[in-house]
Amino acid sequence: MEDTTAKLANARKAKKKALLRYLVIFIFSIFAAFVIKIIDAGFLGFGEAIKQTKTIFQLLSLIFTLTVILSALLYYITQTKKEALENPKLLAVILSAFVLTLILSFLFGSLISVYIMPLTLCGLFIGILIDKKIAVMANIMLITAFFICFCILYDAARVAQIAVSMLSGMIAGTYMILMMEKTYTRMKFLFNGVAVSLLIIPVAIFISAITNPQYNDILFVGLWAFLSVLLSVSLFITLLPVFERVFRLSTNFGLQEICSFDAKLLKRLSAEAPGTFNHSLAVGNLAQLCALAIGENPQLARAGAYYHDIGKLKEPLCFVENQKDYNPHDDFIPEVSVSIITSHTKYGYELIKRERLPDIIADIALEHHGTTPVNYFYNKVKKLTEEQVEKKDFSYAGPIPSNKISAIIMIVDTVEAATRAQSFTDVKHLRELIHKLIEEKRQLGQFDNCDLTFKQLKKIEDTLVEAMPGIFHSRISYEEK
Ligand SMILES: [Fe+2]
Ligand SMILES: [Fe+2]
Repeated sequence: MEDTTAKLANARKAKKKALLRYLVIFIFSIFAAFVIKIIDAGFLGFGEAIKQTKTIFQLLSLIFTLTVILSALLYYITQTKKEALENPKLLAVILSAFVLTLILSFLFGSLISVYIMPLTLCGLFIGILIDKKIAVMANIMLITAFFICFCILYDAARVAQIAVSMLSGMIAGTYMILMMEKTYTRMKFLFNGVAVSLLIIPVAIFISAITNPQYNDILFVGLWAFLSVLLSVSLFITLLPVFERVFRLSTNFGLQEICSFDAKLLKRLSAEAPGTFNHSLAVGNLAQLCALAIGENPQLARAGAYYHDIGKLKEPLCFVENQKDYNPHDDFIPEVSVSIITSHTKYGYELIKRERLPDIIADIALEHHGTTPVNYFYNKVKKLTEEQVEKKDFSYAGPIPSNKISAIIMIVDTVEAATRAQSFTDVKHLRELIHKLIEEKRQLGQFDNCDLTFKQLKKIEDTLVEAMPGIFHSRISYEEK
């Protein structure tokens, strides 16, 4: 009975959320319609234009078109990738990218030429920040919306002119979104963008010859199409850091930048906690390999590893890897020691948030120890007192890893620390240790929230066994391999 009531309450909640999303779309469409009309009529002309019935009719048609097309896109997302909507930020990204592209296209279309408009911008943003499948659909829908809005505002002759921009935008946009995965640097992306811009020239000339045979300057059509795609790519590269910062989302471009040793927090880590810095680099190398082995993003694994212990900046000397002759814990009672040790996850999370780095990097820092106990101090206090000691009071506050990358970093972090502390005689010994460490975490329920399968855990184990001798070769004998 209670179960049914809870289910009904959840269903009601989900319905309310869905309605709210459509309401947001409607309000956004009103805003976008007004901006488009203001661009069309000019800032000064809009005051006069709004008094005319024709303008009111145009505004209503624009609102209707945008609401219908954006709602259709939202419906498509709920059918194909519902989880994308669980994070309200993602709907904000979609709407912002949609409206920004629409506004920039109308600005370029009315101020320069209808042949040069950054129509593929929205698809590129959604492709890199959210999902490629959604991006391809959004690209096609935005261009369709743009075409209808254009029909509402302009005469038939002008509408015929934008057919080339529309179709070449759809083709170039789809192609660039689909090839995004392999494009890891901004320079590579720019290079690919130029290649697509060149390829689009014959396509645009062909489309123009079919749709507008009377048009003489066919070579200009090719040139404009080339510039259009290039404009989208340039605006995308310029505006992406703004999107990354505002919405705190990660892309391979941004991740690469925050992994630079010149990044503010990493610079501090190398200067103030060199031991932790070296440990983080080692974790980064191994985590990247593990991520590749199970089909996760290796760049994200590396970035997450570099920042996972950033919270140790608060008290670097309290962590063994930064100590030389003096250990401050000799002067503390175990309760104080454990509170300093466990607080590095929360402090790291806050530091990363303060720097406006991607949310997922902050989550990794917070989750990389899950709710595991700090056994050394737990055992120490048990020896010192007769009273009952709660293990929970000597454990990290959590939460447990919410994604596979967090889980990889939890495993690699433990393995890296354990292999530093022990010497190995053979690879078999190393495998046993890695297996034991992973099993301990699994039995403590640390992987219950991140969808890691047994098969993937085995792959991570194999990867570490394979990679560690390469990294710590001086310590491991290959005799038994
Ligand atoms: Fe840590
Ligand atoms: Fe660590």
